[in-house]
Amino acid sequence: MKVQVCIIGGGPSGLLLSQLLHLRGIDTVVLEKYSREHVLARIRAGVLEHGFAKLMREAQCGERMDREGEIHHGFNIAHDGRVDRVDLLKYSGGNSVMVYGQTEVTRDLYEARDRLGGKVIHNAEDVTPHDIASDAPYVTYRSGEETVRVDCDYVVGADGFHGVSRKSIPKHVLREYEKVYPFGWLGILSRTKPVSSEVVYVKHERGFALCSLRSQVLSRYYIQVPLSDKPENWSDDAFWTELKRRLPSELAARLITGPSIEKSIAPLGSFVAEPMRYGRLFLAGDAAHRVPPTGARGLNTAASDVYYLYHALIDHYRKGDDSGLDSYSEKALARVWKAQRFSWWMTMLLHRFPDRVSYDDRLQETEMSYLFSSETAMRLVAENYVGLPF
Ligand code: PHB
Repeated sequence: MKVQVCIIGGGPSGLLLSQLLHLRGIDTVVLEKYSREHVLARIRAGVLEHGFAKLMREAQCGERMDREGEIHHGFNIAHDGRVDRVDLLKYSGGNSVMVYGQTEVTRDLYEARDRLGGKVIHNAEDVTPHDIASDAPYVTYRSGEETVRVDCDYVVGADGFHGVSRKSIPKHVLREYEKVYPFGWLGILSRTKPVSSEVVYVKHERGFALCSLRSQVLSRYYIQVPLSDKPENWSDDAFWTELKRRLPSELAARLITGPSIEKSIAPLGSFVAEPMRYGRLFLAGDAAHRVPPTGARGLNTAASDVYYLYHALIDHYRKGDDSGLDSYSEKALARVWKAQRFSWWMTMLLHRFPDRVSYDDRLQETEMSYLFSSETAMRLVAENYVGLPF
């Protein structure tokens, strides 16, 4: 097979890039290791930056998102028994976020790829990029007994943190920056009315909690737990009891509980690999960087990589201009690090760290009171939360 761009990874980044390029006449194939059902069973965050929502519309994938997603003009932080609101609309200069699950984004992208007859190959085993430092890279994968070769101009590695793409860059070229947090998030999804119509982040002495939602009939809740905990040891009842203990009384009284339809623990970590390009291989999304979920930057940061790469590839194919490809890594990383900073800041602000000293507690309290007493601080949070410009 011969295509212009071979995309490794059929998650939202790979699919979005493939869809955008296809609409501009650039031929792609997406190679995904797992089945579509498997990819669609992953539950991730559900807050989309306005820039991401715009990109989905540009990819002709925004219809259901605009119909079923909810525009949120603010979010809340519960602390010290009360709830304070960050007015996104006011402090970001008129922007907002879209509450719409990443799983739904991925589903819409698959449907769009099907509609246009896009090539998306599932259960592609042993995907391996070759000769990425040359002018004639290719990718091989196994389908049953057969080994298939895909010749291409460029390879895009959008295959997540554990994918093969980043590992194909020689070790002496790659610099990796990592921070691991000493706790995880236990999350559940339940068919119940959300306790709040807006997202509520909760700082509490028993640990962080988050009240989020997918719609007005589908709730997503999380609590901070030790890394040693297992989801199977947390009954639904135990989860609801612990969540209620962390909520301000007025919210706890309103909480509607019900059976969980999904329950899992996500560890929290930050990671960046530099550079994001090696020869003709370009990394995008989690293949190059990860954030803790606090602040929901993950998918949104992947989307800015896709945006830069999309424009760089168009300039290459339309105008023979390679400046976008040449500056991709530097440009993408500048925004990636800002998202790292914001996710780290929100994580530090809201969680209970097992190794903290009383000085840390005081600083956390000061950070919180500063935020809600300064319009400048509020602006800083709002502009990051709605998404910095691409
Ligand atoms: C979610 O809805 O799953 C969610 C929302 C906000 C976050 C993280 C996760 O910061």
